[in-house]
Amino acid sequence: MLRSRILGCGAALPAQALSNDELAARFGLDTTDEWIRERSGITRRHLAGPGDTATSLGAAAAREALARAGLEAAEVDAVIVATATPDSAFPATAVRIQAELGMARGFGFDVSAACTGFVYALSIADALLRGGNARTVLVIGTEVYSRILDWTDRASCVLFGDGAGAVVLRAEEGERGVLSTHLHADGRHAGILHVEGTTGPLRMAGREVFKHAVTKLAAVVEEALAANGLGRGDVQWLVPHQANIRIIEAMGRKLGLPAERVVVTVDRHANTSAASIPLALAEAVNDGRIQPGDLVLLEAIGGGLTWGAALLRF
Ligand code: UT7
Repeated sequence: MLRSRILGCGAALPAQALSNDELAARFGLDTTDEWIRERSGITRRHLAGPGDTATSLGAAAAREALARAGLEAAEVDAVIVATATPDSAFPATAVRIQAELGMARGFGFDVSAACTGFVYALSIADALLRGGNARTVLVIGTEVYSRILDWTDRASCVLFGDGAGAVVLRAEEGERGVLSTHLHADGRHAGILHVEGTTGPLRMAGREVFKHAVTKLAAVVEEALAANGLGRGDVQWLVPHQANIRIIEAMGRKLGLPAERVVVTVDRHANTSAASIPLALAEAVNDGRIQPGDLVLLEAIGGGLTWGAALLRF
């Protein structure tokens, strides 16, 4: 069977990292390190410097993914970028990254699905690869949420960070690769997590989003397992969207996974939206935790509301 196999993963984070105390001091926030850690699990986040953009971070992550896959940019047929913080309305971030990588052929476009963007982009890439429209696809999540946050709103601004992650996929015969993807959206809940206009700021009713996250993620995970005739005990790694350690741990418990089988970066990266899954995946694949043949589950929920899951055999 033709499957979309991940051949390489890459990550890029802005140089500047701020602890909770440093963030509170810089923006004069009425918050504490203790509150942020206890409610979200976040201890620090990277924030874009003047030279960092969705394009520059995304291109850096893509270069690492290609290098680890042993592929040249010229071999890539399509670039799909998940982002809610593009450099401009158009050209798409994907096309800008294509130029940064020196690609003279292929195609590219952006996907807007907030924190679920990477799962959506992966699903589209999988369809293109299995349908024969492309042989090699770069899927990138890249975000600079620091540009759309209200730095006077302590309930949201302490939760997000900037960064990018990328994977390069190739269509190959065999058992390894994307097994299935499962996408959902319900625009009736747009008001609880949205960006005002095109430039922000972001507004989030955290407690409301939390309630949806717990039930919708549990349901989409069951859906992904059932679609593959698998049970909870079969999953070897959970690589979840990194919004809140309490949500992540609840999902790990539901799957019966020991803590060390749940990939966590929210403590050091905060919520990097569409970049959070590929950043976490890059960390766990590149440090050797996730091994060839392992069954990996990805899940995310975000603005829209959008949510989804993907099962992969590495
Ligand atoms: O990535 C997209 C998906 N997003 C998510 O999944 C986020 C889901 N939501 C969450 O992770 C959590 O709801 C939060 C971390 C956002 C908040 O945690 P919570 O336990 O739901 O707290 P809360 O919003 O109910 O706020 C509790 C209290 C409030 O005070 P009162 O009303 O109880 O007096 C807030 O005003 O904490 C207060 N508060 C803060 N206090 C200190 C809110 N933000 C802060 C802050 N520092 N930064």
